[in-house]
Amino acid sequence: MNIELFSKNLKDIAGDLEVVFVFEKKLNELEDKDVLKKIGFKGEDEEVVLLAGLAKLYVGCEKTELDSFRIAASCAIRKVQSTNYKSMKLLAKNCKYGFSALLDGLMLGAYSYDRYKSKKPENKDIKINISCVGDIKEYEEKLKEKEIICKNVNMVRDIANTPPQDYFPQTMADDAKKIAKENKNITCKILEEDYLKANSMNAMLAVGKASIHRSKLIHLSYKPKNAKIKIALVGKGVTYDSGGLSLKPGSSMVSMKSDKSGGSAVMGIVKSVAELGLAVEIHGVVGAVENMIGGDAYKPDDVLIAKNGTSIEVQNTDAEGRLVLCDCLCYIQDELKEFDYIFDYATLTGACVVGLGEYTSGLMGHNEELKLQVLKDASFSGENATPLHFNRFLQKTLKSDIADICNISSTRYGGSITAGCFLDKFIYEKNKNKWVHFDIAGPAFTDKSWGYNPSGATGAGLRMSVEFIKNLVK
Ligand code: BES
Ligand code: ZN
Ligand code: ZN
Repeated sequence: MNIELFSKNLKDIAGDLEVVFVFEKKLNELEDKDVLKKIGFKGEDEEVVLLAGLAKLYVGCEKTELDSFRIAASCAIRKVQSTNYKSMKLLAKNCKYGFSALLDGLMLGAYSYDRYKSKKPENKDIKINISCVGDIKEYEEKLKEKEIICKNVNMVRDIANTPPQDYFPQTMADDAKKIAKENKNITCKILEEDYLKANSMNAMLAVGKASIHRSKLIHLSYKPKNAKIKIALVGKGVTYDSGGLSLKPGSSMVSMKSDKSGGSAVMGIVKSVAELGLAVEIHGVVGAVENMIGGDAYKPDDVLIAKNGTSIEVQNTDAEGRLVLCDCLCYIQDELKEFDYIFDYATLTGACVVGLGEYTSGLMGHNEELKLQVLKDASFSGENATPLHFNRFLQKTLKSDIADICNISSTRYGGSITAGCFLDKFIYEKNKNKWVHFDIAGPAFTDKSWGYNPSGATGAGLRMSVEFIKNLVK
């Protein structure tokens, strides 16, 4: 996508089509109101009409809300992509709000995952000329920032969308190395199974045992000299979740290539923070593992000793994400020792999708203020998130008769919270208030398109986290 900004009037800039957003169904204020009414255009959400003779594209946007505008912008770009027009022009009046949302809608809405299509879509690269009202410098800066963020959301989407035969722990490690190669300020360390064994990361190791692909721990770091804050991120990079011996039913297995969404979000966040040049030291750890079946598979009844010495009775091999994360959480806390925040991202529980729906992430942790701040930033960034609260009763349901803890709860209810409670056992006492757990199982991947997300991976987690981190140092 090629976006160019102008401080000239809209009528003085080039563009095959002029895009006009119609807010709050206010048709009467429009130059072409008569013809629009005649053809039945009402200005509803996601309503788009192309008046070819006038070279205009009218797009409805019922509410003056950021997310409505993002959706309207994505409808506009998708419509133009479906024609043979090569360029469009439009007006931007408000840099912080309208223009930002416009860029999200355009760049995220234009995405499609075409790698496996033998016939690629023809009109993907639309030239977009924008007439900006106000200080053009501000707009240019915002464009630079949004280009970084949206490009990385699209990278995260690409990773999560890639089928499991072509994406396994080694591929994820290669992508992490590529991120570091392309940005000299990022370093990448890949730790192999011998390291995991030597460091008693037996929970993570168990999950990947039956796979033909060896597990990897990926550690990306960005350490600018002027860093004011230090952040630790951990992501679930299960490149395929078959459920293991507690095998998923066939229909639930479909889309489990997206179980690497948390890990890919972590890679995208570190990359974004580095490219934005934020004064933040950030570490991203991804447990890249494939959960498969086979003679060597870990079993329900196994007892695993995690990195911090906690013994875990396995009762369900499909609750594998928490086994990967618990060792990675210990690793990053041991490795970094001191930091300001520790966040983890995972498509952890089906219960989160059931409870919150497909569009919302569940946030857990002990620090109410911190969660509130993340929620506020999530909302501004265009991501839906809501808090899920721990409680003493659910916390106790992870008891095991023979080990310190069980990998599933004794109750079938509250599965997202009990998964969060499991992770909590691996957050060291001094770090409790620095921790937020993001269960992104709902929004990370959808089988039907919604808003400006085409069907498939959405890149969930990245935008809300980058917004939070940006605000820490601004
Ligand atoms: N990867 C799944 C969770 C998931 C389900 C993500 C649906 C996205 C959509 C996770 O590993 C899993 O299978 N969790 C189990 C836990 C259960 C066995 C306690 C689940 O949610 O059923
Ligand atoms: Zn699972
Ligand atoms: Zn999983």
